[in-house]
Order: sequence, then C-alpha cells, then structure tokens
Amino acid sequence: MDNFNKHNHWENIYKTKQLSEVSWYQPTPNTSLKFITDNNLSSSSNIIDVGGGDSFLVDHLLTLGFTNISVLDISETAIERAKKRLDEKAKLVNWIVCDILNFKPTQHYDFWHDRAAFHFLTNQSDIDKYITILNQSINLNGFALIGTFSENGPKKCSGIDIKQYSQIELKNTFNDNFEVIENLNVNHQTPFNTTQNFNFCLFKKQSN
Ligand SMILES: C[S@@+](CC[C@H](N)C(=O)[O-])C[C@H]1O[C@@H](n2cnc3c(N)ncnc32)[C@H](O)[C@@H]1O
Repeated sequence: MDNFNKHNHWENIYKTKQLSEVSWYQPTPNTSLKFITDNNLSSSSNIIDVGGGDSFLVDHLLTLGFTNISVLDISETAIERAKKRLDEKAKLVNWIVCDILNFKPTQHYDFWHDRAAFHFLTNQSDIDKYITILNQSINLNGFALIGTFSENGPKKCSGIDIKQYSQIELKNTFNDNFEVIENLNVNHQTPFNTTQNFNFCLFKKQSN
C-alpha cells in the first residue's frame, strides 16, 4: 500500500471505535491466559504484550498477581484507553508507545505475547526485523506466544492486509533460536458473530 501510514491508521481506529466495535475484542483472553499460566512463571516474571492495544490481557495478568507487565502499542490512544480503564492500577504497568519495529528493549522478557499484531507485517524485511528484536528481547528459556490468523482465517484485519500463517509456517518463521512447545488452532468469535480462525504457537528460546 503506497503512502500507508500505520501509526495514523491505528490512531484513527482507536479514536473512532469503541472497545467492542473491533473484531479482536475479547473480554477474557482465555487462550493467552492458558499459555501464560501453564508455564510456571513466577509473579515477578517480565511479561510484555506486544501490540496489546487496549486489550484485557493486562487486567487479567494484574488480577493473577503478576508484577512486571509491559504493554507496547503503536497507538497512544489505545494505551491511554487501557490506562483510563485500569485507573490507579495503570501505575503498576510499564506502558510503551512505539512501533514494534523501532523497539529498543532495555530489559529482557520471560514471556513475549503477541496476539494479532505480528501478522500485520507482510514484507520479509519487516518480519526479519521483528524476529531480530524478539531475539534480543527474550531471556534464554523465555517464552514467545505468537497468535496470527491461520490459513483459514481472514486475509485482512481492520481493513488492512495481514499475512496468514499455518502452524508449520509459524514454526518455520521462528525456529532458528526457538523450540516449539505447543501449537493451538482456535476460533475467535468476534462481537459481530463471525468467526476468525487463529493459530497460536508457543516458543521457548533455546539459543542466542
Ligand atoms: C488486531 S489488534 C490486536 C490487539 C490485541 N493484541 C488483542 O489481541 O486484543 C492489533 C494491535 O496491534 C497494534 N499494532 C499494529 N502494528 C503495530 C506495530 N508495528 N507496532 C506496535 N503495535 C502495532 C495496533 O495498534 C493494535 O492495537
């Protein structure tokens, strides 16, 4: 897409649509929570939600007692909305307004969560950049959970192209330094009563 400005695109979405007016709305992100709680993380584990927007994952992680949570998003409006909802509890979270491709991590993470943000990267140089940043950001034996639309899912999200991933493609995209721990194919029910098929893959970092 020529002259496409992704920052403006996402600002416009979050300025014009309410929480439940977007297809990715999910009051309880059960799949993400299952992967996070199944892996014996300590309450002080460093968790980052990449492209977290104003999703409810952070609310649930705070309720579960996690104390080192970061939420990164390209949209300042999305982050402000999440902060407003959390009110006082927002102070317990590290908020990062940034394009993930410009992210310069200042710490290492034990769990990197990305639901439906990575799949917006459609050219190979951006994908490679994301993988480099992911690699730099995760502790050895740390986890990365990546959720994308599957080969049977939509081809667009919020009106823009995404890249679909089959389970094997997702595995092959990250397998240089990561071992696959678990794959899951799940249907997400949108607030508009449609279904989006996702592949989630949990990776564990094995080498630098
Ligand atoms: C489909 S929404 C998913 C939001 C959230 N992860 C969820 O599951 O509810 C995609 C999110 O990724 C963010 N995003 C898209 N491209 C990004 C980028 N290059 N860097 C950081 N965030 C990005 C958008 O602002 C939006 O909040």
